Amino acid sequence: MVSRIRIALDGPAGSGKSTVAKGVAQKLNYIYIDTGAMYRAVTLKALENHIPVDDPEKLTRMVQDTEIDLSYERKGDQSVLHVFLDGRDVSEAIRGLEVTANVSPVAAVAGVRQALVAMQRKMAEKGGVVMDGRDIGTVVLPQAELKVFLTASVAERGRRRWLELREKNIEVDLAEIIEQIEKRDYYDSHREVDPLRRAEDAVLVDTTDMTKEEVIDYIVKLALERGARIETGCSDT
Ligand code: DC
Repeated sequence: MVSRIRIALDGPAGSGKSTVAKGVAQKLNYIYIDTGAMYRAVTLKALENHIPVDDPEKLTRMVQDTEIDLSYERKGDQSVLHVFLDGRDVSEAIRGLEVTANVSPVAAVAGVRQALVAMQRKMAEKGGVVMDGRDIGTVVLPQAELKVFLTASVAERGRRRWLELREKNIEVDLAEIIEQIEKRDYYDSHREVDPLRRAEDAVLVDTTDMTKEEVIDYIVKLALERGARIETGCSDT
């Protein structure tokens, strides 16, 4: 059995994927790969270069000439993710409201997905990864040793996003956030290419009434059952 397994974590916006993926990676000393951040970086580049998000040809050409790197900075016992777009740190910029509002159509473009999926597979080559996204268990890593599909009610997901933004002093209307999440859910699950979908062999975890610690501990337990071992040493790339 492999001890540095691949963990695929999928689910809709606000289901707690990134917090949980980070927590699981930290406990196992694995690398966390945030694929949503990669789609966000491509969207940022399109917006900055005035490339219309509904122009698949231009977006595909652009992504072929784009470099995205994820790196991790140790801060105490935390590992902070930095996203680099063509050598520039865009970790903050990709979380902005404009990127969030435009990322779904960009992520629906086949040429964009092809390029990013290839990068993601390469990143996971050596195992010892927790990768989160929408199509990890179905498309990127169909052979992953553990697949988890996280869900939560739309009201709870909206509340979490709202709290997250409030913590960053961004004032937004909860109803507006819920509406945006519903829109993204619809778009992400109904697009033609690699829609958000639970892999048949993914474990379904409804996090509505669970704390993040409970979810993390549960996934770590599943990972250990699938052969993961808690690694010591550095997980940085
Ligand atoms: O998880 P997130 O909110 O950062 O993701 C941003 C967008 O990217 C989301 O609307 C769906 C898309 N996405 C995707 O299509 N496939 C992935 N593997 C990850 C994200």
